[in-house]
Amino acid sequence: MCGIVGYIGKEEALPVLLEGIKNLEYRGYDSAGFAILGEDEKVSGEKAVGKISALAEKVGGRKFGGKTGIIHSRWATHGGVTEANAHPHSDCKGVIWLAHNGIVENYKELKDELNKKGHSFKSETDTEVIAHLIEEELNPVRSRAPAQGGSPEGTAGAATSNGTFSNAVRNALKKIRGTYGLVILKSDEPDTLVAARNFSPLLVGLGEGEYIVASDAAAVLKHAKNVLYLDDGEMAVLTRDGHRVFDLEMRERDKESQVIDWSPERAQKNCYPHFMLKEIFEGPEAVENSVRGRLVLEEGNAKLGGLEKVMPALRNAKRILISACGTAYHAGRVGEYMLEEYGGIPVETDIASEFRYRKPVFREGDVFLAISQSGETADTLAALREAKEKGVPALAVVNVVGSTIARYADAGVYQHIGPEIGVASTKAFVSQVSILALLTLLIGRQREMSVVMGRRIANELTKIPELMRKILKQSDNVATLARKYGKYGNFLYLGRKYNLPVAYEGALKLKEISYVHAEGCGAGEMKHGSIAMIDENFPSVFIAPQDSVYEKMISNIEEIKARRGLVIAVATEGDKKIADIADDVIYIPKTLEMLTPLLSVVPLQLFAYHFGVLRGLDVDKPRNLAKSVTVE
Ligand code: F6R
Repeated sequence: MCGIVGYIGKEEALPVLLEGIKNLEYRGYDSAGFAILGEDEKVSGEKAVGKISALAEKVGGRKFGGKTGIIHSRWATHGGVTEANAHPHSDCKGVIWLAHNGIVENYKELKDELNKKGHSFKSETDTEVIAHLIEEELNPVRSRAPAQGGSPEGTAGAATSNGTFSNAVRNALKKIRGTYGLVILKSDEPDTLVAARNFSPLLVGLGEGEYIVASDAAAVLKHAKNVLYLDDGEMAVLTRDGHRVFDLEMRERDKESQVIDWSPERAQKNCYPHFMLKEIFEGPEAVENSVRGRLVLEEGNAKLGGLEKVMPALRNAKRILISACGTAYHAGRVGEYMLEEYGGIPVETDIASEFRYRKPVFREGDVFLAISQSGETADTLAALREAKEKGVPALAVVNVVGSTIARYADAGVYQHIGPEIGVASTKAFVSQVSILALLTLLIGRQREMSVVMGRRIANELTKIPELMRKILKQSDNVATLARKYGKYGNFLYLGRKYNLPVAYEGALKLKEISYVHAEGCGAGEMKHGSIAMIDENFPSVFIAPQDSVYEKMISNIEEIKARRGLVIAVATEGDKKIADIADDVIYIPKTLEMLTPLLSVVPLQLFAYHFGVLRGLDVDKPRNLAKSVTVE
């Protein structure tokens, strides 16, 4: 959550920062602000409540000269959504300016102490204490004349340095309990930018004669292909002459850079009106990219290079514990059905935010699997740590290369789907499900799965992208349906077996994009409670392909119809029976039952998208959400 970008280099900083932060806006969009350090050691800046566009509008044609600067887009945690609480924040004199992603848990105690020492605060945020702590390290307030208050437009007061900038940052950070991704500038050191990380993602793009610090790679693609991922407790000192990375004891760290192979175009909308629509349409390609080179069709098997080193553990595994959040959790639930039915291994799937608090009991033969598009979700990371610390082999399915979960896992599988920018996860889901199908082949073929069955699954998986493309051609029809049902404020999504997680996912998509109440429910479970809500104003969406639970689903549809409920059904092409009972049908092609979620989710993604657009909402940035949830 919260996007931060810092720049030090040869170009005018503001355009680089604005462009970079626009690519990170999905991380938070309550307010935004920047601070630019001019060559005259004057810090200037602007802040605005709302999205980056509001900030850009406020800037208008104004020039902010300076080749060093920081910018932030906020997802509010401490303090309301106001300009005063927008980052960057500064110390009393406007010498230290910083942008922060994370939470300072002990900020109240620190603030009280700093207040007693004479510091004056301008915001309600936890972040501001960091600036004052650094100030206190450099130039204690009690030892000088009364403070004047820093403002983004103010001239920086001269600080009499009691230590170096980086030392002061280090000492200040040692007093903080909590999480941070930080980028910091000091007005009288225009040639230095300091970045630090603890549990909030941060990387440094190594450009030519320039550095871009950012909370994720999407912001640096245009300027740098090589990036340094900072680890927890690390601090990077970036100057025009080079960069150095230290731990908080100021021991220098030797770090290797990694290459990012995403092209900048992949982070653009291109001809699509929204990232969400673009990414739904990229679903087939996402499946292709996640599966490419990993299927051994002849053997009906899969080859996952990233898991090579844990193959003995996988071969002997007695149980798989999957943990993830939101959409990735739903993908995990699909994986649970696949792995149990065809992999022949017991699986338990948990919401990551619950996993470690319920004190899971690990057993000999357990293997843990985290699923995360961003690779930065705090809860998923915490679950992974919990498993790893207990000695359980910890695997991960992750999209973002070099992300924290990817680096922390013992072994893993990358999704290879390029950046997912829309806050609502779409292409990541189908990619994750297809990787779980590969894992099912891998594990199943070591156990009971026959080569014939393996080949059937593998062959069918190769056909999925084309089948998805066929469904995508119905986008306009789904939009018509969204228009028809647009007046309703409640929806029940129902499914069984493989399509129960899809029902949850369909409901989640509609909720987050349209702010309309939607509930996912087991179709067999509805009679135990949820059916009470049904009347002519409460439509149901049934995911009812012709599979092993089809007849049961038909009975459940009848039950809803008997109560005057409206029914939209996602059904298998050619199914006339369902057309007779449902009010509306969206058809999907026939495939193997275990792979149906890859198809049935597509119309639900489209439905949520069109529903949100028809309501005039910003579907790429739904209110109150952020793409990468790096706080617990
Ligand atoms: C929903 C959505 C979220 C994410 C969840 C996990 O559309 O995007 O529910 O799926 O926050 O995110 P990752 O996969 O990055 O761990």
